[in-house]
Amino acid sequence: MGIEEFFDNIISVKLTEGGELNIIDQTLLPGEIKRINLNTKEEIWEAIKKLRVRGAPAIGVCAAYGIAKTASQIEAGNYADFEKEFLELKEYFASSRPTAVNLFWALNRMEDALKANKEKSIDEIKDALFKEAEDIRNEDVEISRGIGALGFKLLKKLKRNGKEIGIMTHCNAGTLATAKYGTATAPMYMALENGFSGDDMHVYCDETRPLLQGARLTAFELSNAGIKTTLQCDNMASILMKSGKIDIIFVGCDRVARNGDAANKIGTSGLAIIAKHYGIPFYVCAPTSTIDMKAESDKDIPIEIRDGEEITEMWYKERMAPENIGVYNPAFDVTDHSLITGIITEKGICKYPFDKAFKELGL
Ligand code: MRU
Repeated sequence: MGIEEFFDNIISVKLTEGGELNIIDQTLLPGEIKRINLNTKEEIWEAIKKLRVRGAPAIGVCAAYGIAKTASQIEAGNYADFEKEFLELKEYFASSRPTAVNLFWALNRMEDALKANKEKSIDEIKDALFKEAEDIRNEDVEISRGIGALGFKLLKKLKRNGKEIGIMTHCNAGTLATAKYGTATAPMYMALENGFSGDDMHVYCDETRPLLQGARLTAFELSNAGIKTTLQCDNMASILMKSGKIDIIFVGCDRVARNGDAANKIGTSGLAIIAKHYGIPFYVCAPTSTIDMKAESDKDIPIEIRDGEEITEMWYKERMAPENIGVYNPAFDVTDHSLITGIITEKGICKYPFDKAFKELGL
């Protein structure tokens, strides 16, 4: 299978020609590639909550299509009634997951599109909402390419004397988490498109407990794309970094505060601390839509706490811990800005002081 065909097969969210909101069910990967249609607002909410669709940009795209699709079913005779039901839908989708700011960003953009078209007929408004969702999706593809191009420049500087470049990543900030190229994986996909072979790079994927996005999703994606890929448990990252095998780290993120503090999948901040110790550059890859200028620092980033059963039983319903044990299961942590070498956005690489760098990008 060529890389384009592979990307098409695993596209995270799309609207079919028949108007169906269609996702790949990521909870079944890598064992089963199954695409499902989401028809009702409850199905869309559940798909986001249960991580059938996940990763900050993909959640945003799914919510945008989701609100366009469910708003198209509103039977209102006038704008005021339509807007009321639209805002109820918006609030409902916004309650699905708290950390990834892209969800709220995309829903706000959909509300802006609604209001910009308020003088039009209800049918025209419904069309405009679909168009806005489509724009959000298409822009995300270009954004990933922008991040990838800047990350690829960093990789090129590291390629020397035929030695493979050791790259570490955490969770899945790949194709499955976005509209196409991913964020943390975009430098590698851009490298493949620009003359690197899959063996020029060696990506070490943290398995990412408890839900194994690194093992199930990133290792699956990258190895299928022909990139040399190795999987390790999260607690093996330190020995790998000490061994000298890791030249650079790319991770995605769910929300960046104004001071550069960056929330990403639980375990990311530990990697950054170890990377600092060993002097390994640590880059956060983030579309500008992930930068929340309203959040001053980590204290303004809500951390999702998920069901303890994800740790005690995962999804297999086979108990791996004593009954009635207390469980702490935060889905994200925040990497302190002082540990981050740079934040790669589609518009440029931001360095400390991050608030100044973000303002220079026009945020
Ligand atoms: O809980 P998840 O799987 O949605 O967490 C995803 C991550 O932490 C990703 O790294 C992040 O959303 C960036 S995706 C480009």
